[in-house]
Amino acid sequence: MELTDRVVIITGGGGGIGAAMGRRFVRAGARAVVLADRDGDAAAAAATGLGIGERGLGVALDVTDEAAVVALVEDTMRRFGPVDLFCSNAGAGAEGGLDASNDAWQRQWELHVMSHVYAGRAVLPSMIARGEGYLMHTASAAGLLLAVGSAPYSVTKAACIKLAEYEAITHGDDGIRVSVLCPQGVNTAMAPRQLGDGGTDGIREPDEVADVVLAAIEEERFFVLPHPEVGDYVVRKATDPDRWVKGMRRLRARSGR
Ligand SMILES: NC(=O)c1ccc[n+]([C@@H]2O[C@H](COP(=O)([O-])OP(=O)(O)OC[C@H]3O[C@@H](n4cnc5c(N)ncnc54)[C@H](O)[C@@H]3O)[C@@H](O)[C@H]2O)c1
Repeated sequence: MELTDRVVIITGGGGGIGAAMGRRFVRAGARAVVLADRDGDAAAAAATGLGIGERGLGVALDVTDEAAVVALVEDTMRRFGPVDLFCSNAGAGAEGGLDASNDAWQRQWELHVMSHVYAGRAVLPSMIARGEGYLMHTASAAGLLLAVGSAPYSVTKAACIKLAEYEAITHGDDGIRVSVLCPQGVNTAMAPRQLGDGGTDGIREPDEVADVVLAAIEEERFFVLPHPEVGDYVVRKATDPDRWVKGMRRLRARSGR
């Protein structure tokens, strides 16, 4: 899909990868970009930074609140017209294994899975009616591989990828395209503290990631891998899963997590 004249919503748009995608989409010719974030001030500042006046909007939104997601989509459609691209990008790291509290597991589930369900429910009917639309989910390489020491994060990001796959297969014939972004380490607010083993193949800048996302959307590619090594790891894992698990055990032992 070309971004020219498109209407875009990006959650987690107050900084990091979300704000960088907003800037990149504006340069690619998007008509309107709505940056939604739990931190409404950050979203407003990031929207001002887009430099497109009232066509760049920053709003406060908790993506785990379905009614608020619906209201955001309705408001965007009233202001700018139908939503062409919804980037469900908000997320947060979480440490811990099986011992993480039930609340911590549930919060990660709401943030990394249900928020994407709410986004799809809110935008898909109008996209399907128009015969076109694009969903971009930010998951993580942790969902394809593993973030050592972060069970709730890895498991919920894996579920996000499966949801994206479901949507791509189920709604492809309706004209819906889906991509899922699976980076390793990216230099954002969440990264220094919560990166875990995600720095193994180098840390990318958010603007570099945004370039890769735009190219993938233009080419309508499902997996978006700013660290190309991740694609090789997925092949190795599928080819010889037992060897893969042994290698990951060595990585875990070295990391001490
Ligand atoms: N930085 C990395 O190394 C890395 C690696 C893989 C995947 N990711 C994923 O990329 C996405 C973007 O993260 P980032 O790296 O730009 O970090 P970031 O912390 O800069 O951005 C995440 C944004 O999401 C917002 N957010 C968190 N919970 C929210 C909620 N309930 N409702 C609305 N907004 C909420 C935060 O306020 C923040 O602005 C996340 O989904 C993250 O899991 C990041």
